[in-house]
Amino acid sequence: MKKIVLIICTTLSLNLSAQNVVSLQADKGSEIINKNIYGHFAEHLGHCIYGGLYVGDNNTKIPNKEGIRLDVLDALKKLKVPVLRWPGGCFADTYHWKDGIGPKDKRPSMLNVWWGNVKEDNSFGTNEFLNMCEMLGAEPYLSGNVGSGTPQELSDWVKYTIHPNGSSPMPDLRQQNGRANPWHVKYWGIGNEAWGCGGNMKPEYYANIYRQYATFMTNGDPKEKIFRIASGASDADYNWTEVLMRDIPHNMLDAVGVHHYSVIEWGKKGPATNFTEEEYYTTMQRALQMEELVSRHSAVMDKYDPKKRVAMAVDEWGGWYDVEPGTNGAFLYQQNTMRDAMIAGTTLNIFNNHCDRVKMANLAQIVNVLQAVILTNDEKIILTPTYHVMEMYNIHQDATMLPISVTSNDYKMGKEKLKAISASASKDKSGVTHISLVNIDANKEQEVSVNINGANYTAVSGRILTSDKIQNYNSFENPNKVKPTTFTGASLNGSALKIKLPPYSVVVLELK
Ligand code: AHR
Repeated sequence: MKKIVLIICTTLSLNLSAQNVVSLQADKGSEIINKNIYGHFAEHLGHCIYGGLYVGDNNTKIPNKEGIRLDVLDALKKLKVPVLRWPGGCFADTYHWKDGIGPKDKRPSMLNVWWGNVKEDNSFGTNEFLNMCEMLGAEPYLSGNVGSGTPQELSDWVKYTIHPNGSSPMPDLRQQNGRANPWHVKYWGIGNEAWGCGGNMKPEYYANIYRQYATFMTNGDPKEKIFRIASGASDADYNWTEVLMRDIPHNMLDAVGVHHYSVIEWGKKGPATNFTEEEYYTTMQRALQMEELVSRHSAVMDKYDPKKRVAMAVDEWGGWYDVEPGTNGAFLYQQNTMRDAMIAGTTLNIFNNHCDRVKMANLAQIVNVLQAVILTNDEKIILTPTYHVMEMYNIHQDATMLPISVTSNDYKMGKEKLKAISASASKDKSGVTHISLVNIDANKEQEVSVNINGANYTAVSGRILTSDKIQNYNSFENPNKVKPTTFTGASLNGSALKIKLPPYSVVVLELK
């Protein structure tokens, strides 16, 4: 009898551990993970720009260079931010760039009508943004005003920023404003959320407008190719993508956007920190929906562009909750917990695995807004769990994606279930392989067996981000509560790699 019980137990445990199986094709990589998948987004919203990135040149004790705060800049450099989208968001379609150039005391003010009707004094404008991108080593992505601007205004912006000296009045104006040589600006958005805050347009109408605006955006130097990005669909609006791909000639279309936020319900978003497991589960359902969105928008794009010349840019993504109690409701300031680390880890795995089509993504937003990587409070800053995931994953930037398949246990909530494990892998230029794994299960450790095909690794090491509560976060009082540590839960035996992933953990392994 004892023997039978033992056999049943052994079989059960074998079955359980056999459920999380990852297969890695270490010699089958052909696509590059575009580093721009690790991009960010900065809008004139709340304290993203003012107080977050920029503190002005006068009267501040916060160390800065030309008004850009150095603590934030240094932290962002460690992330290797590849591309930064600006000035919105909804703000972009109200923004007139000429208000933000020239002597600061002559710049007109405006009301920021989307974000709390606060005064925007335009002290942070084109020169400040583009100079900051140079300090950061990030490529700028400018979002043009289509909703309330004109083709002339956008065409002038292109000329002001990238046309050679002496070629027209705009480069002359740039020179008058202290910048002789053009900046390098490759990425241009033609409007933002044209279906909503960018003008409430229908896709057919927007496609026509896009064609008109794109026509007058000319590169001054033939070597500087402009990369034009169409304002993309909200979530599962596949018809929007279909119409754009059908109606815009592909020689004037380099990418189509997609926006998707992990929000429980627009009218009932729930708190950023004090959430229940049900709320966590629903947030993860929304986050993991990205897999279906990317696959189905890609399938629509494949119909018109089977060679995948037109990229997908998921130029807004991230978790969206209620603002922190006592803060301005229009400023979208929220804390960032291990839940956000789970969103970041799983979403980046999805983008990595779809890098044949997804060439850019921009987390919303970089500082103090929504799923920020940095929060500031006067002279203090904290790095959020999302920051740490972005930093751990930056080894995938411009590496070759290695195909990986995952058979996962379920993370269950009542009658519903999600896959507990998510993974992606890449090989960098020096031949080192990295696997990033996430266990979203809020309660159970998951054992994962990785079958390695096509490589003989002899050493494994790694880092882990986890904490003892899914609600844990870094605060100004306790800034290092959640931070990466050395991972000791992996063992390698020939082509078999065994990993133990604690509940809600993100692990990045290095295999040599
Ligand atoms: O990121 C906040 C807002 O969300 C952006 O301004 C807008 O594009 C989106 O709806």
